[in-house]
Amino acid sequence: MRTAVILLALMFITGLAWAGMPGEKLFNRKCAMCHIVRGRGGAIGPDLTKVALRLSETQLKARISYPKKVNPDTSMPSFATLENGEMHGLIDYLKTLR
Ligand code: HEC
Repeated sequence: MRTAVILLALMFITGLAWAGMPGEKLFNRKCAMCHIVRGRGGAIGPDLTKVALRLSETQLKARISYPKKVNPDTSMPSFATLENGEMHGLIDYLKTLR
């Protein structure tokens, strides 16, 4: 009985850890070459370590999907083709950067 409770708790905790990861992974694959977070990454775009203090969720989405709407000359590519789930994961991760 006790083992079952411990097992369930473990499954819950690892589930949470997994749920927190895809956005950060995606960021490291697609964004980190241009953006620094906590001292790691490329310096082509702005440092995003505290981006959630500057930008709302709506602004984040707009900048990721249509960077040229904010700055027509930007070198940041559009990520409007990300799947909904990927975009949500990414935004969830970016919202932790504060
Ligand atoms: C090729 C380089 C490049 C890549 C790849 C890139 N960006 Fe950018 N990003 C930029 C540049 C340059 C800017 C500055 C915007 C401008 O030109 O006005 C920027 C701006 C931003 C901003 C606005 C920051 C602010 O403080 O206003 C956010 C948020 C952002 N990028 C998120 C992302 C995310 C998330 C990804 C990955 C899905 C990504 N970027 C991929 C170059 C890049």
